[in-house]
Amino acid sequence: MTSVLEFIDVRHQFADSTQALDITNLQLNPGEFVSIVGPSGCGKSTLLRIASGLLAPSSGSVIRNGSLQFVFQDSTLLPWRTVRKNIALNLELDDVDKQEVDRRIDNVLQLVSMQDSAEKIPRQLSGGMKMRTSLARALVCEPDIFLFDEPFSALDEFSRERLNSDLRSILARINAASLFVTHSISEAVFLSDRVLVMSPRPGHFIEEFIIPFGSLRSDELRYTPEFASLTGRIAAAFRGARQ
Ligand SMILES: Nc1ncnc2c1ncn2[C@@H]1O[C@H](COP(=O)(O)OP(=O)(O)O)[C@@H](O)[C@H]1O
Ligand SMILES: [Mg+2]
Repeated sequence: MTSVLEFIDVRHQFADSTQALDITNLQLNPGEFVSIVGPSGCGKSTLLRIASGLLAPSSGSVIRNGSLQFVFQDSTLLPWRTVRKNIALNLELDDVDKQEVDRRIDNVLQLVSMQDSAEKIPRQLSGGMKMRTSLARALVCEPDIFLFDEPFSALDEFSRERLNSDLRSILARINAASLFVTHSISEAVFLSDRVLVMSPRPGHFIEEFIIPFGSLRSDELRYTPEFASLTGRIAAAFRGARQ
């Protein structure tokens, strides 16, 4: 199977000589969901920027096989545009036919449960709804790879868990791969096929956990002993990494 994204011996040092990433190897397979957890400042955002091509690594190489969309914590919606028009922005740039634009927007609005708020502007939306809009804007481009940089960190726990469940069921219906950076170990376990733990800066992967819960995951999964045991093992690796 050809991976959609591959890091081969990637390292990164910034111009002020901050060593952000040590040797990093990574393979993301089509349709796979991989989370990265690691201490603050260890190089997670740097890794995503390198993955996206926004930043060239100082050594090593990155292979991308497919189109890519970035989803950030700050939903970066244009405040004067409605939900529908914010989503349309990505397609206007691509010069897609008007009817096709409407069809694709209706489809993603449905996926993120925002069909009733299509004509609202961002300041009329809750944090969770802004994030759903931001997700819809990425989904409408039908990318092969999603890069998520702590997208749900600013949300309350309840909204976050709902978005986690929704994101899993949305991604189960399309065949995109995801690289997801988060501070929350339970979010990583709930969402992922694999979780990678990073060391403190200069960041590199120190442990990999396969998440064996299959593709259909109910909310109750979070309260099972198997879930608790896995989050406990990852937390231990994370704590070890921080020392
Ligand atoms: N443009 C930059 N120039 C110099 N240092 C940077 C730059 N961007 C990030 N850093 C540093 O690189 C390290 C990794 O940053 P980052 O990837 O943002 O970490 P994380 O997302 O894991 O919190 C940090 O020490 C940060 O201060
Ligand atoms: Mg970061």
